[in-house]
Amino acid sequence: MPETPPSETAKRYEGKAKILYATEDESVLLTVFKDDATAFNALKRGQITGKGQMNCTIAAALFKYLATQGIPTHFITQTAPDQMTVKALQIIPVEVVVRNIAAGSLCRQTGLELGTILPQPLVEFYYKNDDLQDPLLTRDRLLLLNLATPSQVEELAQMALQINQYLTTFFKRCNVTLVDFKLEFGLDPQGMLYLADEISPDTCRLWDDSETDPERRVMDKDRFRQDLGGVAAAYQTVQERVLQAIAQFS
Ligand code: TMP
Ligand code: ASP
Repeated sequence: MPETPPSETAKRYEGKAKILYATEDESVLLTVFKDDATAFNALKRGQITGKGQMNCTIAAALFKYLATQGIPTHFITQTAPDQMTVKALQIIPVEVVVRNIAAGSLCRQTGLELGTILPQPLVEFYYKNDDLQDPLLTRDRLLLLNLATPSQVEELAQMALQINQYLTTFFKRCNVTLVDFKLEFGLDPQGMLYLADEISPDTCRLWDDSETDPERRVMDKDRFRQDLGGVAAAYQTVQERVLQAIAQFS
């Protein structure tokens, strides 16, 4: 896998955790995953050594797994430990969050107790807008802002629920509970919807089934958000278990 850094002139977009570069093929972008970590809309910043490589490897494995289940994803191939090529898409500026267990902002905003098992998965939409701090959207606000059409909103929710089923099953094999996660989607020039961005311990809450202690069980970015320590080690364990489970699935 080539390790040459892409040229600065090809840089198309830099986010908090990834940089996107143009390639010779205009329908393909190169994504480079960074070790930079942010939380609370970048109020908290840090570095997690090896995160770029681990998240890229975990995301590649999960995208491949989802593709075998029939989910269209933007993933093409992992070209280096911290790099993957992806389909160039028009990203819909909506973060789709699926929750199985109450945690994070759901607890803060509703008073539900951490760890409450939800009677059915909850799908939420957030406006991907740093200036507005990614506010929670209603479906009507989403339509008002023309962020998606009514049928696209239904498709987003259905795909997210389907992905939740596949990922929940997958992570069970890793001895991990998928508490909640965030997805992003994009459209190709024909208007077909693809899963985009990444799925990693940055974008999921993952609890270790072999731990009952509410701090020790955390295997995701909450270790960074809440200063729990052992962030890179937790990501490393997720990577090992995901790669082991992938080997069993294929
Ligand atoms: P929340 O409880 O903070 O709303 O987060 C829900 C899920 O979405 C959790 O798995 C973390 C993920 N997430 C992101 O990937 N990016 C974000 O900017 C936020 C706020 C959450
Ligand atoms: N990704 C967001 C940020 O960088 C929030 C989070 O993940 O907590 O601020």
